[in-house]
Amino acid sequence: MRQSPHASGKTLNLRAQVVKTLLAVQNGQSLASVLNQHMNIVSDKDRALYHELVLGCLRQWHALKQVTLPLLSVPLENAVVETCLYVGLYQLLCTRVAAHAAISETVEASKQLGMESLSGVVNAILRRATRETEQFYDVLENASNLPSWLAKRLKKDWGEQFAELSYELKQVAPLTLRVNTRQVSREEYLDILEDEGIDAHRCELSDVGIVLDESIHVPSLPGFEAGGFSVQDEHAQLCATLVPNLDGKFVIDACAAPGGKTAHLLEKYQPKKLIALDQDEKRLKRVSENLERLILDGKHVEIITADAAKWTAPELADCIVLDAPCSAIGVIRRHPDIRLLRQSGDIAKTVELQKQILENMWQQLKVGGTLLYITCSILKAENEQQMVDFFATHSDAQEQKIDANWGIEQIHGRQLLPQVGHGDGFFYCRIQKTA
Ligand SMILES: C[S@@+](CC[C@H](N)C(=O)[O-])C[C@H]1O[C@@H](n2cnc3c(N)ncnc32)[C@H](O)[C@@H]1O
Repeated sequence: MRQSPHASGKTLNLRAQVVKTLLAVQNGQSLASVLNQHMNIVSDKDRALYHELVLGCLRQWHALKQVTLPLLSVPLENAVVETCLYVGLYQLLCTRVAAHAAISETVEASKQLGMESLSGVVNAILRRATRETEQFYDVLENASNLPSWLAKRLKKDWGEQFAELSYELKQVAPLTLRVNTRQVSREEYLDILEDEGIDAHRCELSDVGIVLDESIHVPSLPGFEAGGFSVQDEHAQLCATLVPNLDGKFVIDACAAPGGKTAHLLEKYQPKKLIALDQDEKRLKRVSENLERLILDGKHVEIITADAAKWTAPELADCIVLDAPCSAIGVIRRHPDIRLLRQSGDIAKTVELQKQILENMWQQLKVGGTLLYITCSILKAENEQQMVDFFATHSDAQEQKIDANWGIEQIHGRQLLPQVGHGDGFFYCRIQKTA
């Protein structure tokens, strides 16, 4: 066990480690990029609590801010102390951690992080919170828990559905698997899980999906090393059901890393050739690792690092899957740090990048071929509006309507919103090249 010492040479307590991780996210680092490194210095027995406090605080960030503001007589303007307060309040209002432990450990964390002089403020506010919990619960329940720019945008896009949507976005997403049917059927894998005493049920929309009733350490699930399944959101699993039969075809997965959809396509079809393209070399390594673990035929797969807005294919493709870079607002349940990281100004830049990639990939498609445009966003600018603009400027494009019992039909494409116990926010639009 490695532990992180603070200035006095003493070991930082767990709350101080949590605060440090949250400060890194506030400084613009993604949780994924800091989590493993920070987790390594937390003792094994504390990891579950560390994880819960980090993710929980991020999930409730804006509500915790709302709870804290009226408790301060003057603005603190001190990120360390404010973060200590959020961590303390989260424990008191949202966990079963005993109040005395939550308060004393958090006050100690503020001291360990060099805020000795303000530790009294942390102590006083947390003690007050234990006396006024009811009103704080109301704030937590009613807060949209989104940055105001995002709440405004979602209200504009989804009108009266906004209240339900912001509620859904606050929930914890289920752990969903995609069974590798080249190795095992969904029914067989459900039996294996049952034999191991793991409760799970079938996804409704994906015929290869399984939702686990409780979150479990994935590598310890039966068949993980042997490639029996992948972790993938239920709505993401719909991709492979929306492409035409790819057997013997030339396919491009234009933004492929880490390979969730590439692998699914290869589990379902045997293309003549599949190019998995992405501009991020490090993330592309995970495509090879995933295909190897899942024992999917690498012979017909070529992995290429390139900019999809500029790259030219060796020949025109029969089918292009374009899982475009996006704001990822639809997957905020799984990546609660997006609440802090994403800024209003990012959206227009992302829309422009999507447009450029779409424009270039369209040139790589055969006449008669299909391009499936996907995002894990729920903002219309990246989805419906992006498609309206595309069709308005491409007379050789025709929408192939997705006739389905899921999602919300848009002017072009279908939008899935996140739902408790089900999948994340995804958008799909299927486009055929006609000339
Ligand atoms: C939504 S993720 C793809 C997820 C992947 N399809 C899956 O199912 O596992 C979007 C990807 O686009 C990649 N990307 C962003 N800009 C790109 C560009 N200009 N050219 C190619 N890939 C790009 C990112 O590196 C990222 O891996």
